[in-house]
Amino acid sequence: MNATEADRLAFVAERRAISVQRYNELHSVDYDEQWGAITPTHALFLSRLAERLGPGAEVLDAACGTGKYWPDLLAAGVSVSGIDQSSGMLSQAARKHPGVGAEVLELQSLEAAPAYHGRFDGLLCVDALECVAPEHWPGVARGLAGTLRAGAPAWVTVEIWPGELPAATDPRQRPGEVIEGGGYHYYPDSSQALAWLDAAGFDVGAQATSDYYWHLLLTRR
Ligand SMILES: C[S@@+](CC[C@H](N)C(=O)[O-])C[C@H]1O[C@@H](n2cnc3c(N)ncnc32)[C@H](O)[C@@H]1O
Repeated sequence: MNATEADRLAFVAERRAISVQRYNELHSVDYDEQWGAITPTHALFLSRLAERLGPGAEVLDAACGTGKYWPDLLAAGVSVSGIDQSSGMLSQAARKHPGVGAEVLELQSLEAAPAYHGRFDGLLCVDALECVAPEHWPGVARGLAGTLRAGAPAWVTVEIWPGELPAATDPRQRPGEVIEGGGYHYYPDSSQALAWLDAAGFDVGAQATSDYYWHLLLTRR
């Protein structure tokens, strides 16, 4: 491995560790107060997902955070499980929904977690894929698809940067990556994201863009 590859590996590892720390110590404290509102487009895709599921279905909320969508899913008779990288975010979710099973697990680890494979009737991964580096996207997409039974629906969002991306602030950054306010986000080209989702085994259905998010309703082939 040359120095450039080693630098890049170190960069991605640093950013992942910082992300966990920021969600544990900073964002989990008042996430619901700051970000608890559900936009109309998020509500629309949540209802589209719930319509495809029906009572008794089992859903995985991947990168569930504080469980913002759980009240609606539980009200629809859906059984929810959650994973997230942040124990702080999961503590908030558990405080509100002690009956929902959730554990610390990174999206990057799903593909190698047999307990999750082929187990779910539906999936949501909302407002979180921007934390995934480009080299991890294909494995994360495969990990998400791998949790689902054939024909199962998934609602995912991909964050969009409005306009031209700012210049890199770290020499180890790759195109599409932004470090701002101490946080890291990656904004893939839409064609690249679609190619990764397709390669993972997802077909794309309804789509919409609103509030800096691209929403996709997918079906596991
Ligand atoms: C903006 S919050 C969104 C939470 C929730 N999905 C929602 O829509 O309210 C992003 C969440 O993604 C989680 N997250 C980010 N990167 C992750 C990763 N690689 N694996 C698991 N969780 C991750 C964060 O810990 C945080 O809880």
